[in-house]
Amino acid sequence: MLDSDFHRGRRLRMKPGVRAMVRENEIRPADLVMPYFVVETDDAGFRKPIGSMPGQFQLSLQQLEKQVAAAVKNGLQSVLLFGIPKEKDEQGSQAYADEGIVQEAVRRLKDRFPELVVITDVCLCEYTSHGHCGIVQKGGEILNDPTLDLLAQAALSHVRAGADIVAPSDMMDGRILALRETLDDNGFASTPIMSYAVKYASAFYGPFREAADSTPKFGDRKTHQMDPANSREALREAAADLDEGADILMVKPGLPYLDIIRQLRDTFDAPIAAYNVSGEYSMVKAAAQNGWVDEERMVMEMMTSFKRAGSDIILTYFAEDVLGWLNK
Ligand code: PBG
Repeated sequence: MLDSDFHRGRRLRMKPGVRAMVRENEIRPADLVMPYFVVETDDAGFRKPIGSMPGQFQLSLQQLEKQVAAAVKNGLQSVLLFGIPKEKDEQGSQAYADEGIVQEAVRRLKDRFPELVVITDVCLCEYTSHGHCGIVQKGGEILNDPTLDLLAQAALSHVRAGADIVAPSDMMDGRILALRETLDDNGFASTPIMSYAVKYASAFYGPFREAADSTPKFGDRKTHQMDPANSREALREAAADLDEGADILMVKPGLPYLDIIRQLRDTFDAPIAAYNVSGEYSMVKAAAQNGWVDEERMVMEMMTSFKRAGSDIILTYFAEDVLGWLNK
């Protein structure tokens, strides 16, 4: 037997205390961001289950506050808000209305939970009648440059309402610069931008579009979101966003793109966020409801893999559950 050549990896796996001692990655409550869908409605009791996302709800302002209060008690430190307006139009004007639903939600949450980090998704698709992320020309093309000012106005209205971080998810070219300049010009030079820098045109957003009522009425998002086959392009997108002033880089979806998270981690020093999207959530939920998998262990393994791949932040619909498990 060649003692010196013989690696006994099991020595460090024999006892729980030793395993804990050599564990390389761990989930902290501060890593987690919980997304919520807030609906503009006169019914204060509105709390509608999202069929494609078991355990998730569309919430009125009042129900949102209640839900967040319970989560904050469990240690939740950050939320991401999506708004569903009463009225939609071609320009998505409710996206940048000062009294819009997300703006109201931000004011309400910051008022009640000043320490909570409130992040807003900046996009037009939940607010446009056609469900696209920008201004649509006759013939169907989504126009890049005319959309930028609307996105910047949306971000500004969120920050004026009190948002701590804005997260543009539209994938128009140049939008980070447009947001940065508008925020700076209006006295918000200190507000960070979390860019959906590397966002793929993914089937994993399917359940979200029911949740956010943002399914495009025609066409798809392939002219702005990335081709799932590409990774060099991801590095270009991330570099461009950093140049334009992004503070945090997000990769989306999460699990099918752990290689991209790792490449960004190895290439850039900026904080990285992984978005564990609706389809990733619903797959686990469906399997768990059938009794096919151990939900807690599976979710914790997924969360750990985001950290191992190099993410600092995890946006996930499991955030409330994970906090509950961490508190056990
Ligand atoms: C666009 C947006 C989407 C998601 C977050 N922001 C949907 C899309 O691009 O179609 C998806 C999130 C998820 O699937 O959980 N505003």
